[in-house]
Amino acid sequence: MASPKFNYFCFLVLFVASNIIILDPTLCLGNGDDDMCLVRKQHAALFVFGDSLFDAGNNNYINTTADFQSNYPPYGETFFNYPSGRFSDGRVLPDFIAEYAKLPLIQPYLFPGNQIYSDGINFASAGAGALVETYQGLVIDLKTQLSYFQKVSKVLKKKLGDTEAKTLLAKAVYLINIGSNDYLVPLSKNSTSASSYEKYVGMVVGNISNVIKGIHEVGGRKVGILNQPPFGCILALKLRLNGTKGSCVEEASSLAKMHNNVLSVELQKLKTQLRGFKYSYFDYYNWVFDVIKHPSKYGFKESGVACCGSGLYNGDYTCGGKRASKDYDLCKNPSDYVFFDSVHPTERVNKIFSQIMWSGNQTSTGPYNLKTLFEV
Ligand SMILES: *[C@@H]1O[C@H](CO)[C@@H](O)[C@H](O)[C@H]1NC(C)=O
Ligand SMILES: *[C@@H]1O[C@H](CO)[C@@H](O)[C@H](O)[C@H]1NC(C)=O
Ligand SMILES: *[C@@H]1O[C@H](CO)[C@@H](O)[C@H](O)[C@H]1NC(C)=O
Ligand SMILES: *[C@@H]1O[C@H](CO)[C@@H](O)[C@H](O)[C@H]1NC(C)=O
Ligand SMILES: *[C@@H]1O[C@H](CO)[C@@H](O)[C@H](O)[C@H]1NC(C)=O
Repeated sequence: MASPKFNYFCFLVLFVASNIIILDPTLCLGNGDDDMCLVRKQHAALFVFGDSLFDAGNNNYINTTADFQSNYPPYGETFFNYPSGRFSDGRVLPDFIAEYAKLPLIQPYLFPGNQIYSDGINFASAGAGALVETYQGLVIDLKTQLSYFQKVSKVLKKKLGDTEAKTLLAKAVYLINIGSNDYLVPLSKNSTSASSYEKYVGMVVGNISNVIKGIHEVGGRKVGILNQPPFGCILALKLRLNGTKGSCVEEASSLAKMHNNVLSVELQKLKTQLRGFKYSYFDYYNWVFDVIKHPSKYGFKESGVACCGSGLYNGDYTCGGKRASKDYDLCKNPSDYVFFDSVHPTERVNKIFSQIMWSGNQTSTGPYNLKTLFEV
């Protein structure tokens, strides 16, 4: 039954929407400034690739296990008031970046129903790695994420025509975070010395590089990428490998450093190989390290205990009670904590880091920060 109130509301929405459509070209023609007109009509889109740090709910729609899903409480409790499939109490990094870029929240690619791709889309999948072998069958690996993007580019070309689609893809920013799971699988089994991983690191970075080349081939030009955090400071791994609250496990962190060195050299190489390629490399390693070492500097009370989980320091990855155990503790105020569960950061950490990614200086994020990357 449609009440008169409801109809009136619909009318208002239609009225406002049609006004925008009528007014926008008028404004553009009126001031005769083609560039301004283009900016107003079409801001740069955001395409997202990666793992649980970026997943906005894709894993809700695949056949996997609770380890790789967070579509149950208390995930999402702080911001969304429902468990959206983000691995945090609230928003994840791409949510903040979209906000700063004046875009709506970027939807997960697998969200059912008709998708509008002109603002971008999110392909990230918790547990995914750059190597197809990493949690194979339970996640959407990076190569498959690229194949989804290739499909999306075809849909855009059909909808907008070749020229406009090409412009959209070239102006868009491609946010990538991948690699942790490739390393955490072997690391959680054996803490071998970093030097034995040399070939492995080459494979991980080689596959990331191939995907960047694939994005470029489709028409993408601007990549924002995170380096890997100090694995030995991530609560779950620190406790498994050492068992103490205080110290990070140096050996595990040096593996991340090795990856980061190889990745940053590869990006410089890609810049010379790929026409028009521009990137923003965020030094996630050092920021994670600093927040964990000096939580109070950032207004956190605790970086050695997770807000949600069980066991010693809530270091067991059981938040929500659907994984290895049904019991778990939940803190009252997640924003006092660095870790929401023993692997993933709280929304407040994501917010702080997103601001640095957006407008930080060359030491943190370079050669471009994301704000500049969206504008160029
Ligand atoms: C999902 O995976 C489980 C276990 O791997 C399997 O038994 C089940 O048939 C799968 N379901 C679908 C719909 O593929
Ligand atoms: C982990 O240890 C196994 C054997 O103990 C070895 O085969 C494997 O290569 C190691 N993983 C890495 C990445 O070094
Ligand atoms: C990508 O990873 C696969 C293993 O999944 C490996 O065989 C291949 O050599 C890697 N590619 C590059 C360019 O390193
Ligand atoms: C484990 O923690 C202790 C005490 O904080 C520290 O001295 C030691 O170096 C750590 N071990 C490893 C392997 O990092
Ligand atoms: C860059 O920013 C950091 C803090 O975000 C600051 O400590 C550093 O001095 C800045 N460097 C330059 C060159 O401005």
